[in-house]
Amino acid sequence: MGAASVSQPLLLGIESSCDETAAAVLRGRAILSNVIASQTAVHAPNGGVVPELASRHHLEQIDVVIDTALAQAGVGLGDLDGVAVTYGPGLVGCLLVGVQTAKAIAWGRGLPLLGVNHLEGHLRSVWLEHGDIPSPSMNLVASGGHTGLYLIEDEECPPRRIARTRDDAAGEAFDKVAKMLGLPYPGGPVVDRLAPTGDARAVRLSPPKMSDGSLDFSFSGFKTAALRHAQARGLTRPYPAPDRDAPSQETRDLLASFQSSVVAFLVDRLMTAADEAGARAVCLSGGVACNSLLRRRVAEEAERRGLAMFSVRRDLAVDNAAMIAEVGRRQLLSGRRAGVDLNAQPGLEL
Ligand code: KG4
Ligand code: ZN
Repeated sequence: MGAASVSQPLLLGIESSCDETAAAVLRGRAILSNVIASQTAVHAPNGGVVPELASRHHLEQIDVVIDTALAQAGVGLGDLDGVAVTYGPGLVGCLLVGVQTAKAIAWGRGLPLLGVNHLEGHLRSVWLEHGDIPSPSMNLVASGGHTGLYLIEDEECPPRRIARTRDDAAGEAFDKVAKMLGLPYPGGPVVDRLAPTGDARAVRLSPPKMSDGSLDFSFSGFKTAALRHAQARGLTRPYPAPDRDAPSQETRDLLASFQSSVVAFLVDRLMTAADEAGARAVCLSGGVACNSLLRRRVAEEAERRGLAMFSVRRDLAVDNAAMIAEVGRRQLLSGRRAGVDLNAQPGLEL
């Protein structure tokens, strides 16, 4: 153990599940550094993450990202009380880079190794930013790879999954719709920026109906309806469109309608789940939590119901290692440890 007291452990977090190489240092819940090397520029020409390219770039970046995180925090490996790493879900070649690096550091320094579920990291990013959240809370985790609702009954209980997506993730739907219109990758922030310049009532995109009454999500219907409309109106463009900074008014109307329908669906599911669980708080995490309309609509609905609402700032909403260290901190304090046999689990669920 380093010099830090056990209740305020000094932890290194490592994240490499998709297209961000990230490392962070936490002392207790205080973020001493949060370094994110994004591969967006690497994948943008393809309009999506190319797994082989991603893992190669993680390999190139991981040492320098970890060194930078330690330097910014003003600590060395010898000061650490543990190493937390994402071991799933994600791309196997990418996860392995982080897992092997974390294992080497932990083994070489005799430190506890903490294996973290990436989705639990997103979920707990809210706690990391805001401290304790009133219980029970209903948590929407919405990113490029996953979308789900999780109930946290009380602080000591593990998250319970209430709903998941049956096809695409919310962020993936944003990315695919943007791509079919020739707009840059990742599509979510682009749609967020362009939607206010369009008419959200222009195109009707109906939410899916689940015949079994579950609160599960589905986004492929929104995507297909948007594609049909775009094809019928001649709005599709090859990716990346050369004139991508000047989408037509009709394209803006489609983007506004798409965003408003997807957000209405997310908000409806989140609030229904919160009502059913008697939640006192609703929380947003994952990259899609950056969406301005989603934040505004959830805040309005939460206020109407007298619920507390929490979302995360951008550097904690997108993939980052501070959230991974936060889950590692919780594991360390409750005595949980991973063994040297920790392996990447691409299909890990929460
Ligand atoms: O959490 P994240 O960084 O990585 C994953 O774990 O997937 O999420 C990335 C996703 C992308 O699909 C991106 O388009 C979406 O989050 N995203 C947004 C916004 N910012 C990022 N979606 C909608 N509106 C945004 N402002
Ligand atoms: Zn993520």
